[in-house]
Amino acid sequence: MTKLLVVATGNPGKLREMQAYLVDSGWELTLKPADLDVDETGETFAANACLKAAEVAKATGNWAIADDSGLAVNALNGSPGVYSARYGHSDADRISRLLRELGDTENRQAQFLCAVAVANPQGEIVLQSEGICKGEILYATRGEGGFGYDPIFYVPEKQLTFAEMSPELKKSISHRGNALKNLVPQLLKLLR
Ligand code: IMP
Repeated sequence: MTKLLVVATGNPGKLREMQAYLVDSGWELTLKPADLDVDETGETFAANACLKAAEVAKATGNWAIADDSGLAVNALNGSPGVYSARYGHSDADRISRLLRELGDTENRQAQFLCAVAVANPQGEIVLQSEGICKGEILYATRGEGGFGYDPIFYVPEKQLTFAEMSPELKKSISHRGNALKNLVPQLLKLLR
């Protein structure tokens, strides 16, 4: 039997990826209502993921899954971190601010982090997972795919930015892919 799982995101790039990752989870996915917004008041990715999953589950009366993710740059002491989405008004704005603040700093090390939480219809958190992907910040954008900071996030082992990768390759190594990989077997178990 399939059960409904509300994906608590309004970000189309994230939604596309979550759908691809969860296609084998056995759950029927649906989007959260557009007017249902949850303030990300937590200080960690995990706290914000739990907040979003719990609020959307309670408001819709369904199971809900949420992720909170962002980019932590070593030379900027982990910024933009949980403020990644609020670092500018558009993806282009956020990328230029980051490149401006980093200037020609030689230490370009960074990591994408992702926390995922699943809440039951009562708003209780029943599953949690985290994923990480290490890389470097380029001096200029490269590639047209993906979303957000993808065009400046370079993964040395693949010699590609996230924006140059196929969705399948990004899925196999990304922070969100890693977080969801651990969760899919547990989501399947919940259906039994
Ligand atoms: P939030 O999780 O909704 O707070 O948003 C996280 C922000 O981090 C997004 O708006 C993007 O700017 C950025 N971000 C998260 N995951 C990715 C990714 O896979 N690629 C590029 N940017 C991302």
